[in-house]
Amino acid sequence: MFLLSFPSLIPLLRAGLDLDCAESWIEEKGRPLRDFLSEYSKAAVEQGKLRESDIDNALRNQYMTLMRLGYFDNIPRYASLNETDICTDEHRSLAHDGARQGIVLLKNDGNLLPLDPEKILAVAVHGPHARAPEKVMDGDYTGPPCRYVTPRQGISKHVKISHRANTTIYLGGINLHIEREGNDREDLLLPKNQTEEILHFAKASQNPIILVILSGGGIDVSFAHKHPKIGAILWAGYPGGEGGNAIADVIFGRYNPGGRLPLTWFKNKYIQQIPMTSMEFRPVPEKGYPGRTYKFYDGPEVLYPFGYGLSYTKFHYETSTDGTSVTLPATGGHCKGLSYKPSVATTPSCQAVDVAGHACTETVSFNISVINGGGRGGAHVVLVYTAPPPEVAQAPIKQVAAFRRVFVPATSTATVPFTLNVCKAFGIVERTAYTVVPSGVSKVLVENGDSSSSVSFPVKIDFSV
Ligand SMILES: *[C@@H]1O[C@H](CO)[C@@H](O)[C@H](O)[C@H]1NC(C)=O
Ligand SMILES: *[C@@H]1O[C@H](CO)[C@@H](O)[C@H](O)[C@H]1NC(C)=O
Ligand SMILES: *[C@@H]1O[C@H](CO)[C@@H](O)[C@H](O)[C@H]1NC(C)=O
Ligand SMILES: *[C@@H]1O[C@H](CO)[C@@H](O)[C@H](O)[C@H]1NC(C)=O
Repeated sequence: MFLLSFPSLIPLLRAGLDLDCAESWIEEKGRPLRDFLSEYSKAAVEQGKLRESDIDNALRNQYMTLMRLGYFDNIPRYASLNETDICTDEHRSLAHDGARQGIVLLKNDGNLLPLDPEKILAVAVHGPHARAPEKVMDGDYTGPPCRYVTPRQGISKHVKISHRANTTIYLGGINLHIEREGNDREDLLLPKNQTEEILHFAKASQNPIILVILSGGGIDVSFAHKHPKIGAILWAGYPGGEGGNAIADVIFGRYNPGGRLPLTWFKNKYIQQIPMTSMEFRPVPEKGYPGRTYKFYDGPEVLYPFGYGLSYTKFHYETSTDGTSVTLPATGGHCKGLSYKPSVATTPSCQAVDVAGHACTETVSFNISVINGGGRGGAHVVLVYTAPPPEVAQAPIKQVAAFRRVFVPATSTATVPFTLNVCKAFGIVERTAYTVVPSGVSKVLVENGDSSSSVSFPVKIDFSV
């Protein structure tokens, strides 16, 4: 859902916004307001709601950008670019690699994937997205790519496609008629006829089938996750013009998938628990409202959690660093109060530091070792979460503080160093919307379903200064 209901863009201009593309998304009395800032800024200055210097600042930034683009030097650097400049091998391979990096392996029973083209020889390819039409490959807000390689074309470069083959690949999912800006989904399921078709192929096929999903949002494919004849599930997002090549590379083992879900895939039942008009992230127990996102929801209606993603190898973590303690000075009474869980008997006298009144120069450093325990090299995304002190009530369960992608050769270890700013990494937004660093032991966590590791960082607040 895309919710925009700004009464005015004027406060945003004051806060650093330089230009608007208001177009038709702000309406007044049913009439779209175009060019909001040029229409209303003068009146806002006259009414004292905006300073002329705010406008000067926005204009300065815009003119600087135009200068960098050669706009005033008669250098037609960008205007003269055309297809020949864009459709180069370098750009195609970037699109190809971007699509491969984004693919997430959700299920792989008995290491069904990757398929060995020398042994398989032929596959049957089914499903509405096999010959994916343009609007399925691209998703929303994209320019046209140089060419489209559909999943079927990608697969056909590795093996023969035959309806009589033993191994079925089904390409399904949704499209922009079902999900896009201004078009909310009604449920989290696959279209019913696809589910029926997948179940039909799974039953009819001698061997387990492979399901490839193209979609932007998560889909409740619990039926496929549980099904013994659906051996593997891949999610390819909306993979762009080179998407068919990327999907085939993963299926046939030319690329080891390392993508991790950037959102939680909820079960369909979850949507009955959250009114779509409620924007609260935290759970509200008295309303039966369970909370949103991995930060606040850890209930049972999750099919694949945020950060989930398998590989053709196994990665384990080790942290050799002992957490160091951090002392934050709370100058000038910048102590904030926190809510604590009822079981907490004693609370510190300065419970948290308000980040807004703090220089925030403190950092913490640690190393995460990623051990590839399998026989195949692969990229792994180290997602670093932080968790606030457990005694703090109504705090996020955990939140992403940093991430880094590393390639780890088979049976090797890569050590990834991290240095995080304490305010950014351990800061939480408390209930009344202040960002604060709580006193107590904050933790750094890395976890991937196979392995988890943590480092503790006790935070002390010195308010004697
Ligand atoms: C694209 O630009 C190049 C020069 O950079 C020119 O040679 C070519 O004819 C142009 N192609 C098209 C289709 O306009
Ligand atoms: C199908 O698989 C079976 C064994 O799994 C094999 O004997 C047979 O040759 C395969 N048929 C085709 C057409 O690939
Ligand atoms: C499912 O139904 C939709 C809408 O009736 C139709 O456009 C689509 O082709 C069908 N898909 C399959 C896989 O049967
Ligand atoms: C991380 O590893 C590097 C190289 O082994 C080492 O020099 C550094 O001291 C380590 N950092 C921490 C915080 O342990």
